[in-house]
Amino acid sequence: MAEAQAQQRGGYTEEVSAGSSAVDGVRFEVDGEIATITLDRPEKRNAQTFATWSELARIGESLPEQVRVVVVKGEGPSFSAGIDLRMFTPEGVPGQGSFSSAAKSDGTTFEQRIRQAQAGFLWLRRPEIVSIAAVQGHAIGAGFQLALACDLRIVADDVSFCMKEPALGLVPDLTGTKPLVELVGLAKAIDICLTARTVRADEAMRIGLAEIVVAGGDLGQAVQDKIAELLATNRDAAAATKRLLQGARGRTLEEQSVAEGIEQAARIRALFG
Ligand code: ACO
Repeated sequence: MAEAQAQQRGGYTEEVSAGSSAVDGVRFEVDGEIATITLDRPEKRNAQTFATWSELARIGESLPEQVRVVVVKGEGPSFSAGIDLRMFTPEGVPGQGSFSSAAKSDGTTFEQRIRQAQAGFLWLRRPEIVSIAAVQGHAIGAGFQLALACDLRIVADDVSFCMKEPALGLVPDLTGTKPLVELVGLAKAIDICLTARTVRADEAMRIGLAEIVVAGGDLGQAVQDKIAELLATNRDAAAATKRLLQGARGRTLEEQSVAEGIEQAARIRALFG
């Protein structure tokens, strides 16, 4: 592993080495085909800021090509308590401003800022990777949406998902609405969001929000087991299959069949010349 460097970026200290970084409460480690992103501000329940989202986007942009699985997890008792509530105060988060200062700028700039934040979530759906959210404790607002941004959710039995935004006069805008509807259906998504109620482990499992529920102490092992299963399949076939599955909803059966044929022809050519 290359020698760690310390850099100064945007007023925040950055520790960078070939296989790891730690910036603004986000830790990033790469071990062969597995990358792990850890929200690492447990004393603030991994509350997220503009800097968190910039760092997530930066990780996505520079993700090493060999990575096939990305795990997103949170240090401490909560996966993430959502947006850092200081962003709603006039003072904001030191060095990063606040929503009230952002709202005073023109509409385009504010929308661009949201797009920049969303970039930290969107890359987790790339076909070349499978992203897994390992979720314990609270996943509120932006925390819930970060879990929704991942392909799979493996959760501890103390998990509590809550889409708090509508209770605060906001909408969920960190890419969470589409995966939520696709996972649980429109009626359940309306129920969950417009009541801002808590969804616990048994319901999460029942309605498709979670793939696996385990006892809290078993979360790490459950994620490792899933990674081993995912890495056992062929890398290129896995990416092609994910592309097909992701496109399925938007295509007719006939169109999907054609897409399957195109991907398979490419596989056969790659495997047998
Ligand atoms: N933003 C900033 N600080 C937070 C946040 C947050 N979202 N959540 C927790 N913290 C801080 C607390 O202020 C406290 O700090 P302090 O020790 O300096 O006083 C520390 O984290 C621990 O929080 P507690 O409330 O003591 O922890 P507890 O485990 O009892 O409760 C819980 C956790 C339920 C998550 C609670 O902290 C909470 O309700 N947080 C706010 C959740 C929220 O409304 N998020 C916004 C959602 S909307 C969106 O994301 C767009």
